[in-house]
Amino acid sequence: MKTIIGPFTQILTMANLPLKGALNDDQLPIIPQGGLLVQDGLILETGDFDLLKTQHPEARIEDIQGDRVLLPGFIDCHTHICFAGSRAKDYSLRIQGKTYMEIARAGGGIWDSVQQTRAAEESILIALLTARANRHLAEGVTTIEVKSGYGLNISNELKQLRAISIAGQSTKADLIPTCLAAHLLPKDFEGAAADYLHHVVSNLLPTLKQENLCSRVDIFIEENAFDPTTATDYLIAARELGFELTVHADQFSTGGLRVAVQLGAASADHLEASGDEEIELIKNSDTVAVVLPGASLGLGMQYAPARKLLDAGACMAIASDWNPGSAPMGDLLMQAAVMSAAEKLSSAEVFAGLTFRAAHALRLTDRGALSSGMLADMQAYPCADYREILYLQGKLKPISIWKKGTVI
Ligand code: NIG
Ligand code: FE
Repeated sequence: MKTIIGPFTQILTMANLPLKGALNDDQLPIIPQGGLLVQDGLILETGDFDLLKTQHPEARIEDIQGDRVLLPGFIDCHTHICFAGSRAKDYSLRIQGKTYMEIARAGGGIWDSVQQTRAAEESILIALLTARANRHLAEGVTTIEVKSGYGLNISNELKQLRAISIAGQSTKADLIPTCLAAHLLPKDFEGAAADYLHHVVSNLLPTLKQENLCSRVDIFIEENAFDPTTATDYLIAARELGFELTVHADQFSTGGLRVAVQLGAASADHLEASGDEEIELIKNSDTVAVVLPGASLGLGMQYAPARKLLDAGACMAIASDWNPGSAPMGDLLMQAAVMSAAEKLSSAEVFAGLTFRAAHALRLTDRGALSSGMLADMQAYPCADYREILYLQGKLKPISIWKKGTVI
């Protein structure tokens, strides 16, 4: 059954825009009084609503009332929302002046979430994750990458990745799992970082493949996590097993982005510490620079150099990093809007970073723009002009969301 959905005051299709580099708002493809012809979850055609009705008299009409601006569903290409417990304690110390690193060294930080997540039954994790995914979906995020990384041993990493797989069947959002067993050297592992990563390569990654639990591997390259050389060996081994690569890079110190680019990782994420040298490295690569304003807001630190990355010609996506420690808020649109004021990003650049450029970070080719053949993952805002969306800094939320053509 074909359906025509509309009329929308504006459809921002985000189609046919360049994958890399700066964008200005004049480049935004906008269809006024637009409609979409949808069948079996896919977009067949977009165009003038009245014209579509004339050309497809057989189609059912899904009527839209009032002023609405339609965008592709957002794609959050970096989250850690499979966790149990809270780190409010850490946050309270942080706003009293302790640094993320000091708190981690004093027994808080990621290791605290590991213990809370290990203690949770799989069913609890599934419920917590599903609730967070549904909250994100209600805010227009139709595809959500979700990392493990709070298990940090074989059985608990498997528990997390199985929870992600099961939650993916109960939420209507698409969950894209990533193995982050290399988040930190677990305190209870007897051996060096390289031994732990060998253990993961031998005893976890093959099972993930066999059980089809994930096809992406991430690592945190940082002074208190994994060094670039050890990380490179691990990432090469993961790649040989058939995993796509992504890296937590340059959050506090440089080194990670270089590894990501050298190995052809799909993305290098964070980049708060990246400078001109790193921007030179990533700009000509196919590695997406994923900036995480939620982590800057949560840690009270500088944003990644988003403006410079775009001006240099990089492909830049924006993700929430939603996690219990550095980025507890989890409001992707609010974070992107607030960063756009500080970094001077156009609406076109922000929406590109939340849609088709984020899809490229996940190497997904079937979403991120509203054009023929794409999934009908969409969100409508109650306004007449797309500029209202960033202007209201994340307080204006979508009023309707479609996943694969069906209203949620
Ligand atoms: O992306 N930097 C490493 N990992 C997460 C934080 C996770 C946590 O603090 O629990 C991040 O910010
Ligand atoms: Fe992260």
